[in-house]
Amino acid sequence: MKLLLLGSGGREHALAWKIAQSPKVEKLYIAPGNAGTASVGENIDIKATDFEVLKAFALNEKIDMIVVGPEDPLVKGIYNYFQGNDETKHIAIIGPTSEGATLEGSKEFAKEFMQRHNIPTARYKSVTSENLQEGIDFLASLQAPYVLKADGLCAGKGVLILPTLEEAQSELKEMLSGMFGDASATVVIEEFLSGIECSVFVLSDGEHYKVLPVAKDYKRIGEGDKGLNTGGMGSVTPVPFADEVFMEKVRTRIIEPTVNGLRADNILYKGFIFLGLIKVDGEPMVIEYNVRMGDPETESVMLRIKSDLVELFEGVAAGNLDTKTLELDPRTAACVMMVSGGYPEAYEKGFEISGLEQAAATDSIVFHAGTTCKDGKVVTDGGRVIAISSYGETKEEALAKSYKVAEMIQFEKKNYRRDIGFDL
Ligand code: AMP
Ligand code: GLY
Repeated sequence: MKLLLLGSGGREHALAWKIAQSPKVEKLYIAPGNAGTASVGENIDIKATDFEVLKAFALNEKIDMIVVGPEDPLVKGIYNYFQGNDETKHIAIIGPTSEGATLEGSKEFAKEFMQRHNIPTARYKSVTSENLQEGIDFLASLQAPYVLKADGLCAGKGVLILPTLEEAQSELKEMLSGMFGDASATVVIEEFLSGIECSVFVLSDGEHYKVLPVAKDYKRIGEGDKGLNTGGMGSVTPVPFADEVFMEKVRTRIIEPTVNGLRADNILYKGFIFLGLIKVDGEPMVIEYNVRMGDPETESVMLRIKSDLVELFEGVAAGNLDTKTLELDPRTAACVMMVSGGYPEAYEKGFEISGLEQAAATDSIVFHAGTTCKDGKVVTDGGRVIAISSYGETKEEALAKSYKVAEMIQFEKKNYRRDIGFDL
């Protein structure tokens, strides 16, 4: 079959790497892709949100399946666009409808969904300029620190955690007056939860589901989880604290009520569900839903899926995921993200990347995130540049391999965290 994968990050290179291993794949295109995806498929220069151009391409190339990497096209309704059109409804879309994608596109919607289906999450209040005073009062009823979330998509920047009530009340006003544009016209105020976080990935056909390997990502730029939030500086799977007892609670209290709740609400959902969880006194609670795979979790999770991912996707499309098997690799996989100096603040792009051939000769897997080809050379093209993933019998062994490769790969002002997995 012919597949089209949408997106251009490290997540997409890891998905492309896994998809390309399937004997079912005759041709894999990535739109727009990056310098790494070009080594496992063919990049085409179309934006993941340019539905009309994607449609023309998909019809012309007789694409059978579109796998959606990032949330943007999902929230904008790519599923509805293709499935709602006679010309294109034969093309399977791996990703939810726009209604399903609202679980990520609106924090308020996600909180209401969880409340309706009794899914454990932090207490909250949703506030607009109309009921600002209720928000001010709700904050006063909580203990420090205070969590404020812009309702809409903010490229991972819409959550503020504030140490004092004064700051929280003043930032609430700032958010409502447009700190994140329309995305913060509604703000969700949440009770702060204290615990350790992990990312649980579920693949669902709308009725049945498979739980993929659980991972932990490292979001802060600095070692010891200090400094600014980034898109993610590394990941490890499995997560020892997500043991059988914990995962049983996750299945019965979170995953099943989520899959069944979507059905009860008549929301068609065929794709990945990403549960951002926190373990509070042994109990799982939902911090957030995303409607796609995580980045950089995918760069370690894909290493541990032994089954044919495309066959699983076929099960998603056909609604018979229960008849497919998901076999996992028992080893640990870890990913270390190499980033541009200055990231997540201002940074320069266009630096030549060397050492990639030497890295390719190791048994680590180098996934490109922000790279592009320029004059026949691979150059940096984003904040997160290269993800280095490795297997190990232990996380120490996997990480040691990735760090060795991180020394081989050079670009000006490169930076990476040397303590991924420190808290596991
Ligand atoms: P989100 O974009 O919702 O994942 O939030 C970003 C990060 O903020 C999460 O990964 C958590 O570390 C933190 N966070 C969000 N909500 C809460 C909460 N209610 N309590 C504690 N930390 C939170
Ligand atoms: N690694 C977190 C995310 O992809 O949102």
